[in-house]
Amino acid sequence: MFNKMRKTKEIDVPVTKEEVLRHPIPSHVAIIMDGNGRWAKKRALPRAAGHYEGMQVVRKITRFANELGIRILSLYAFSTENWKRPKSEVDYLMKLPEQFLTTFLPELIAENVKVQVIGHTEALPDYTRRAVEKAVEETSDNTGLVLNFALNYGSRSEITAAVQQIAKDVERGALAPEDITEPLISSYLMTSGLADPDLLIRTSGEIRLSNFMLWQLAYTELWFTDVLWPDFTEQHFLEAIAAYQRRDRRFGGVSAR
Ligand code: IPE
Ligand code: IPE
Ligand code: MG
Repeated sequence: MFNKMRKTKEIDVPVTKEEVLRHPIPSHVAIIMDGNGRWAKKRALPRAAGHYEGMQVVRKITRFANELGIRILSLYAFSTENWKRPKSEVDYLMKLPEQFLTTFLPELIAENVKVQVIGHTEALPDYTRRAVEKAVEETSDNTGLVLNFALNYGSRSEITAAVQQIAKDVERGALAPEDITEPLISSYLMTSGLADPDLLIRTSGEIRLSNFMLWQLAYTELWFTDVLWPDFTEQHFLEAIAAYQRRDRRFGGVSAR
């Protein structure tokens, strides 16, 4: 009887927030929020309905990440490749930041969240860029969770831009080729100043990175789930963190355990 109970506890009992808080929390969590379209399709709704629902989950998970004491939450919201989608969907996605931040910004300010953005924001429509810039400005003095949106972000284009800038700095004599070290390259990326992610979560069952933080994810723990982003809950987030806490991060060395 006792053995059976132990087994049940190990296998079936959902992990709690209290348990997760007893172990080191990943400092930087990055999420590829995928599956909005399929969530909508399953319900015979337009894809936009999935994106709207996904936005509510962003709000919920941001609040929860802050409560857990996570320092940085990076959310892949729109990739440089997502422009390939039908214009009506792109238009809807571009309206979301404004809609989201209008209702959510006061809460972010009250919760001491600092909004940041990575990606080619200069290519966004004015109203999208303005909404994001306003949120960044109004939360710039906050010291809590860094909520880092990747908007019109693509890792290869980020690395290409960094290489071009490094080449220009060498050309004008501000840098010598020997100065080009790994930390220097990191400092030319859009994530400059942010530690690399400790944990990457991707929802919706796709096992790929889709051009997200290729340099920064070199030693990140990866966690994939079939759950679609609009169905993602605090409980799933706890499961991802608990899985991370069970991993043995060796960074190429030998186990410290
Ligand atoms: C993720 O959901 C949101 C964005 C890429 C903007 P998708 O829209 O990719 O949903 P699926 O993958 O088609 O289900
Ligand atoms: C990755 O999802 C981009 C975002 C979540 C913003 P996609 O749905 O665009 O990725 P692929 O096309 O399945 O690789
Ligand atoms: Mg997708």
